[in-house]
Amino acid sequence: MQASIEEILSSYNESAPLAEASTIPASWYVDARIAELERLNVFSKTWQLVARTSQLQNAGDYVTTRLAGEPIVVIRGIDGVLRGFYNVCRHHAAAVVTQPCGQAQILQCPYHGWKYGLDGSLKGMPEFEGVQKFDRAENGLLPVRVETWECFVFVNLDPDAVSLHEFLGRLVQRVAPLHIGKLHYFDRRTYDIHCNWKVFVDNYLDGGYHVPHLHKGLSSVLDYKQYTIENEDRYCLQSSPMVASNEDAATGSTRKGDRAWYFWQYPNLMINCYEGYMDTNYVIPVDADHCTVIFDFYFDDVSEARRAYNAESVNVGNRVQDEDLGICEDVQRGLKSRAYAAGRLSVRREAGEQLFHRLLAADLKAQRS
Ligand code: FES
Ligand SMILES: [Fe+2]
Repeated sequence: MQASIEEILSSYNESAPLAEASTIPASWYVDARIAELERLNVFSKTWQLVARTSQLQNAGDYVTTRLAGEPIVVIRGIDGVLRGFYNVCRHHAAAVVTQPCGQAQILQCPYHGWKYGLDGSLKGMPEFEGVQKFDRAENGLLPVRVETWECFVFVNLDPDAVSLHEFLGRLVQRVAPLHIGKLHYFDRRTYDIHCNWKVFVDNYLDGGYHVPHLHKGLSSVLDYKQYTIENEDRYCLQSSPMVASNEDAATGSTRKGDRAWYFWQYPNLMINCYEGYMDTNYVIPVDADHCTVIFDFYFDDVSEARRAYNAESVNVGNRVQDEDLGICEDVQRGLKSRAYAAGRLSVRREAGEQLFHRLLAADLKAQRS
């Protein structure tokens, strides 16, 4: 008989100390009911990265996306205010804005031509004379919350959520000295991976445990023994002193500085910094068995003269990602095996994973009691 969702949730003990803790159970990575609960309790209630501020600088600039299954548009108004809306026409539910990004003075639905202002207000409905008891003011696009931090734009579907800054907590101060706002966007890579989104996050949060084994090139520039793991309320910072290396020329020349900084913000955002470099990894669940990960690459200098260097740096990131991708898909197969139920955690390395599992368990178990 299939285990109930309550049984599955209660099979994880979030109060165990790290030395006695196990991972969340394998069933959490493969069960469609858990994936749906995550959509409702995690992705519909947390601040989610949707755009870069540089994409939304001028009046009329917009970006569309999907968040927890919801079509969303974020747009800068004539008044300069950044707003977010469900990208769902109030007439018959078509997507009002159909391009991924662009510029608009008015939002016109492609289906029957209803028009909305950049502030979401309904401006016009063709051939609607004679319709009774219809209040135009009540039929604007429905708003969602939008807030910004550094060069990032976030949306939260939960009207009762804490502010973005409260959600990020001490991450704000921790990231500030790195001046990531001075970096410029360069390129994007998107990966469709045959694994649960949490497998990708776990892999990120294992405190460098897999680096010497899986990433020989990256390993050559990190002082692995000095790797530190710092857990806060909703973020984990993994950091390592860097060493000069000729072992892998491409990695050595593109991953530099005193320290490597790897920030993870619950539930699905990673920010990785080296000197003059940042990449963000944003993990999107597709279903229990699949996720998409978007890598955005930023550099301090994106002039034409630096193009080849920056492209080489992206390639180094791409190679590391390919190494991770294979192992994540392998883990997903293992999680489905009858031979596996849950695993133990390294005290030295895997505190970040425990933080992730505890935060997730708290969200999934909330509102069920
Ligand atoms: S669905 Fe948008 S105008 Fe009809
Ligand atoms: Fe990795």
